[in-house]
Amino acid sequence: MIPQTTFDSRTFRQACGQFPTGVTAITAVTATGEYAALTANSFTSVSLDPAKVLFCLITTSSSFSVLRDAQRIAVHILGHEQEDTARRLATSGLTGAERLEGVDWTAGPDGVPVLADCPAILSGRTDEIIVSGDHSIFILDIDHLAVTEEEIPAITFYRGRFSTPPTPTAN
Ligand SMILES: Cc1cc2nc3c(=O)[nH]c(=O)nc-3n(C[C@H](O)[C@H](O)[C@H](O)COP(=O)(O)O)c2cc1C
Repeated sequence: MIPQTTFDSRTFRQACGQFPTGVTAITAVTATGEYAALTANSFTSVSLDPAKVLFCLITTSSSFSVLRDAQRIAVHILGHEQEDTARRLATSGLTGAERLEGVDWTAGPDGVPVLADCPAILSGRTDEIIVSGDHSIFILDIDHLAVTEEEIPAITFYRGRFSTPPTPTAN
């Protein structure tokens, strides 16, 4: 291991990519009916009581204005069979509404798109948006939850690739 005090952004991404994450689909709708839908792996829980989570969005994202203006944002933890959804919602050049075409969803609270067959869905309102560097940190107050009763393994993202973690075995 060679310590590096000067590095380019590719090496920085490579270092961060050594950390395996889950993958989420973020959806939102504004009062004027504009949709956002994107894939994000920068999700983490922030506070248990009150329930808060965050995700980081590149501020130049085409989804930024919709997420900033949204009445409600839903975060979907994606399952191991949802790689196609993750890829579709990460497609540049499509609007949120176009990304959602071909994805199975219904309108949830406040009309927010709720995707089918996810291990868990957390939705709520934006508490704070903190701009930091080239990203904005969205902190959400969560007031609606859905957790599947089936055991759906989550999809993961590691070293730039999607994969499925091994299912834990009982002792
Ligand atoms: C696995 C994965 C994780 C991603 N995580 C994030 C993220 O946390 N934040 C973000 O801004 N974009 C993330 N993206 C990229 C967005 O999904 C989207 O593709 C990108 O912002 C292009 O959107 P735009 O053309 O609307 O600007 C991720 C993409 C993939 C495939």
